[in-house]
Amino acid sequence: MDFKRNIIITGGAGFIGSHVVRLFVNKYPAYRIINVDSLTYAGNLANLTDIEQAPNYVFEKADICDFERILSIYTQYNVDGVIHLAAESHVDRSIKDPFTFAQTNVMGTLSMLQAAKAHWNGEYTDKLFYHISTDEVYGTLEFDGTFFTEETSYDPHSPYSASKASSDHFVRAFHDTFGMPIIVTNCSNNYGPYQFPEKLIPLFINNIRHGKSLPVYGAGENVRDWLYVVDHARAIDVIFHQGKVADTYNIGGFNEWKNIDLIKVIIKTVDRLLGKEEGASLGLITYVTDRAGHDLRYAIDSTKLKNELGWEPSLQFEEGIEKTVAWYLDNQAWMDNVTSGGYQEYYEKMYK
Ligand code: NAD
Ligand code: DAU
Repeated sequence: MDFKRNIIITGGAGFIGSHVVRLFVNKYPAYRIINVDSLTYAGNLANLTDIEQAPNYVFEKADICDFERILSIYTQYNVDGVIHLAAESHVDRSIKDPFTFAQTNVMGTLSMLQAAKAHWNGEYTDKLFYHISTDEVYGTLEFDGTFFTEETSYDPHSPYSASKASSDHFVRAFHDTFGMPIIVTNCSNNYGPYQFPEKLIPLFINNIRHGKSLPVYGAGENVRDWLYVVDHARAIDVIFHQGKVADTYNIGGFNEWKNIDLIKVIIKTVDRLLGKEEGASLGLITYVTDRAGHDLRYAIDSTKLKNELGWEPSLQFEEGIEKTVAWYLDNQAWMDNVTSGGYQEYYEKMYK
């Protein structure tokens, strides 16, 4: 079957990537979607069971750092578009093991770019390398009502954000030096189904369910700007199709929460949905040593994306967090499979 487009989505077995794969596979049956993922601890093919049999979906287990293998995938599928999400994504892990972050996020992105350059061989008509980045590359804000815009200078603080900033620079360098059509987007904190339970929201929902303590870093005063993951996937769709080449867009929902306030909303919602007395789990809050170099506040100004491409979040936070808590409580089997490590056998069972 001939496909209208052949698009690699890297990191498609991860949290955000699985939502992007799902959206593209369902919305664009004329596109072939090639999910390239090495299945690290964060990759879980059970995130994609609903679309894995679709005729326009292919999974390729591959490490983005393996240039030869990546180039062979570009050639095999005659790839014309890349949406690059694969990365090491957890700040706490980057503090313990920065080498892996430099390897995957910097060298892996460079390998994806070099392979695209080799495959496209200077013929860039209707081609696009779309790189997914984060608001953390901009550094941190004070409690002064300012926002990160597309003009904010990069000032990363963690090994994670330093590695993402470096990869963003390589992507832009491939445009400026070789003329490769690229787009970079910087998104705020995502939340929703299928997030690995090392991140605040799924970790805390699961801990509340099991009556385990909730480790709040520092005084819980840090602020994050939360966006429902499906709205991020919708933004990626709009930008992939209508974004201006060589441009940058910030993605966010103007939805800032102090960690401790967010945690209290989560506790209230989980307790209510489990039929417990309101606030019954407040006692699980445990203040622990702060994260090293903990950025105080992130806040994204996504006005450009709204004005130029018409994208806005579809969900209010109250609705999004209710849906998210309900999803994790209703999908305890998914969570148990992740926490037990059982999910890592899925590939062997399904693809071998
Ligand atoms: P995740 O950790 O849930 O998933 C990462 C995926 O990449 C996993 O499936 C993993 O197996 C895969 N991967 C890792 N190393 C690989 C390698 N060497 N080769 C191939 N695949 C590899 O991450 P996420 O939270 O879904 O984030 C996806 C992207 O979005 C990342 O680039 C991240 O920086 C960015 N981002 C995340 C957020 C957020 O709130 N989670 C916000 C803004 C931007
Ligand atoms: O801003 C976008 C970024 O958001 C993405 O680029 C990252 O990939 C993603 O992991 C996320 O980074 P954060 O560090 O903000 O997310 P995390 O869920 O780890 O933490 C959210 C906040 O909660 C942060 O201020 C640290 C705090 N925290 C986190 C954990 C895991 C706690 O207080 N306790 C915890 O146990």
